Amino acid sequence: MAQTDETRANAPDQTIEALSSEDRTFPPPPAFAARAIVSDRSIYERAAADLEGFWAEEAAKLSWFKPWDRVLSWEPPFARWFEGGQLNVSVNCLDRHVEAGQGDKVAYHWEGEPGDRKAITYAELLTEVSKCANAFKALGVRRGDRVAIYMPMIPEMPIAMLACARIGAPHTVVFGGFSAEALRDRINDAEAKLIVTADGGYRRGKPSGLKVNVDAAIAGDQTPSIEKVLVARRTGQDVTMETGRDVWWHELVDGQEPTCEPERMESEDMLYLLYTSGTTAKPKGIVHTTAGYLLGCSVTHRYVFDLNDDDVYWCAADLGWVTGHSYILYGALANGATGVMYEGTPDYPAPDRWWDIVERYKVTILYTAPTAIRAHMKWGTEHAAKHDLSSLRLLGSVGEPINPEAWMWYHRHIGGERCPIVDTWWQTETGAIMIAPLPGLTTTKPGSATVPFPGVDADVVDAEGNSVPLGGGGYLVLNKPWPSMLRGIYGNPERYRETYWSRYPGRYFPGDGAKRDQDGYFWLLGRVDDVMNVSGHRLSTTEIESALVSHERVAEAAVVGTPDNLTGEAISAFVILKLGTDPSPTFGEELRQHVAAKIGPIAKPKTLMFTPDLPKTRSGKIMRRLLRDIAAGRALGDTTTLADAGVVEEIREASRSGKDDE
Ligand code: PRX
Repeated sequence: MAQTDETRANAPDQTIEALSSEDRTFPPPPAFAARAIVSDRSIYERAAADLEGFWAEEAAKLSWFKPWDRVLSWEPPFARWFEGGQLNVSVNCLDRHVEAGQGDKVAYHWEGEPGDRKAITYAELLTEVSKCANAFKALGVRRGDRVAIYMPMIPEMPIAMLACARIGAPHTVVFGGFSAEALRDRINDAEAKLIVTADGGYRRGKPSGLKVNVDAAIAGDQTPSIEKVLVARRTGQDVTMETGRDVWWHELVDGQEPTCEPERMESEDMLYLLYTSGTTAKPKGIVHTTAGYLLGCSVTHRYVFDLNDDDVYWCAADLGWVTGHSYILYGALANGATGVMYEGTPDYPAPDRWWDIVERYKVTILYTAPTAIRAHMKWGTEHAAKHDLSSLRLLGSVGEPINPEAWMWYHRHIGGERCPIVDTWWQTETGAIMIAPLPGLTTTKPGSATVPFPGVDADVVDAEGNSVPLGGGGYLVLNKPWPSMLRGIYGNPERYRETYWSRYPGRYFPGDGAKRDQDGYFWLLGRVDDVMNVSGHRLSTTEIESALVSHERVAEAAVVGTPDNLTGEAISAFVILKLGTDPSPTFGEELRQHVAAKIGPIAKPKTLMFTPDLPKTRSGKIMRRLLRDIAAGRALGDTTTLADAGVVEEIREASRSGKDDE
């Protein structure tokens, strides 16, 4: 049911008891390798005793044009880190490694889905970034202007992001799977001046259209801020180029000067904006700034992944999400890591594609999401068994709670029972890993993200904000500011305060449920608000409901997440049609496509049920728990269903009693 922000904010959460954590029985986890770079437990005590001193010591390892005057100014909920300092993120990611004699080190082993490959060194990346930065300037982009990036996972994508950082023009990357409408909304919210895209990218062997979506997004006067479109050629498919507006990358960028003076950015200048789903229909533009963000993602990357010089590190995410921003790009390059970047789907041309990549590049660290692990399990263990995975020494997990079966499979079949698994909890808003083990220091427990990173003050509290004793469950909160924290929601300080800081004043509320065991280990239990986690992607129930009711024949809609073996959660929609419209499977399919066109294919409901009624409390709130039970309890399959008599009766009954049960 589409509701206003206000009703949503006042809605009580799903009760914490409803979140389950299964019993887990596992073999003892392997000990971490002795080479671990953090070998002294006192790091935790030092950071706890002197938070600012801890971060200042780490910040000194970055390259600054001008040192900071003050480590932290904290006027809750607004933090400013390293004020007075000046630096440039691209210099930290590129120039300083080249200057230190690492120019020939590979930054990315890039691999396209069709099998084309390219190794890009730090020196080459610096040249390409400089050319691209000069091209941006030639297109009229100035410091402070926003640039939208809508690209496949090709080298031009990190190049464009770093070029933005070089000239101080914040980027907003829009995941290539989002629709033209979703792209348009983000462009308009960010008021982007330039959009960088490609003709298309490869998905399962087929070229997907990106430029065509850009054309639809910016047609007419729908995005008044956009002046230019820069288009990289990837697939060679036909695209329309509008004279005066659209420019080919190879025609403009390749001929630019190979050096570009980096802007001296203030610590708190915006580095980028990234849109993420919350509890309302409108995605939030999460603001990350320069110094604190770079510091947070580089330090966590180094310590959590125990990064050594000779590692080959693969974060198998998409640069369109925060995981890619922090751990394919900024954190990894700031540390001078050699990474793998892969354009395509994991099962193309065959389900062993990933394992072939691990074997060929001798990947030592693999970082991925439980949903990907479950997909590989489904495709069959034999695909991994065909390859020599002995180079791997550390495995990471992110995005959702990892279930025991997936953990076991990852541990046994990918890690050869030899590699520790680091389960990392964090969010778009936190910018960097917040809860995770440190190799060499933290004993892991399968399924637990273990303990907060040094300097992170996390707690589990009840509805009133009282700390829950060890062994109990409640809501995760963060008590202290941290360098890579979001600085706000773009253009909406009130929503920032309301969403994250109003529930427990002075403390950050991430929206996750958690338990702590007797050893103080954190076990994340999933979202406690109206946000779903589908294949590790955050989707808002309200956003999908709004997309459904925007169809002219839909009267009302309610969306809930239900447990799903593969994707973690699946989207179930309940739809009331306007009078005179007949429910049918064909129309159900039309509605699913409608959602895909509004948001993107990832938001398509898996099941869609037409119903004459929706269960509501007396105050008019949808009774989501009942809908979740209905959706989970009836094996609806991947089809559209008309509510049967039993469901209608349940809904009517609930509506009559109208208890405020949620
Ligand atoms: O619910 C938590 C879940 O993913 C949410 C953050 O989503 P997003 O901002 O898209 O960032 C995803 C990648 C960092 C969190 O609020 N989540 C993330 N990591 C874990 C997790 N849940 C359990 N365990 C994790 N390791």
